[in-house]
Amino acid sequence: MPNPTTPNFDSIAPIYDSLSRMVFGDALRRAQMEHLGAIPEQAHVLLIGGGSGWLLEQLLLQKPQVQVTYLESSTKMLELAQKRCKQLAIPTAAVSFRLGDENSLKPDEKFDVIITPFLLDLFPDDRLQHLMDRLFTALRPGGLWLFSDFWPVHEPTPFWQRLLLRSMYTFFGVVSGVNASQLPDFGLHFQRLRLQEQASTQFYGSLIQAKVYRKV
Ligand SMILES: C[S@@+](CC[C@H](N)C(=O)[O-])C[C@H]1O[C@@H](n2cnc3c(N)ncnc32)[C@H](O)[C@@H]1O
Repeated sequence: MPNPTTPNFDSIAPIYDSLSRMVFGDALRRAQMEHLGAIPEQAHVLLIGGGSGWLLEQLLLQKPQVQVTYLESSTKMLELAQKRCKQLAIPTAAVSFRLGDENSLKPDEKFDVIITPFLLDLFPDDRLQHLMDRLFTALRPGGLWLFSDFWPVHEPTPFWQRLLLRSMYTFFGVVSGVNASQLPDFGLHFQRLRLQEQASTQFYGSLIQAKVYRKV
């Protein structure tokens, strides 16, 4: 089971996708799908914080031979993802749906690819460090980490981006118990783990970045 400091997206789950589309159009989706092509055909993939399952659907359409561990801390999001696959008759024999957070990973579990789609922005630095360390341990040497998240490219961050980020943190703080109040320094966290950046794309006026990192 997820620990109590993990945000709870149950109440927002039924409307999360519509809400994110209303604010960002298709930018969040494009960012998450940008680097799916880099995933090796028969990879064992950890998709953590995938939400309602639309990204899982896209992953399985593009890479039908992958094996997926779908790790979600929200019961409602996990149910939506399972329902979605059933309704669309997407074969899920190679998908393991798991309720929990990074602490639910088994000690010896290893993955060729880890996907963190708009997950890492939810945590203050100390918890983020724990989460990223745990994921790093679970990633095989040579494995890929597909990151997509809010990470403003321009310095100083434009006013409209700061305003939007502040509104989001306030909203998700109230609705989902998100403890963070600002974006972490993702660059420092990836540097600390010595992950090598392989590719990077910007979206939504450079507020969002999708990156591929490799574990050496
Ligand atoms: C901001 S939402 C993004 C959902 C999805 N990636 C999308 O963009 O449509 C974050 C998701 O991560 C899940 N989550 C939060 N912390 C988690 C954790 N530590 N382990 C697994 N899932 C987590 C939440 O339940 C939620 O579904």
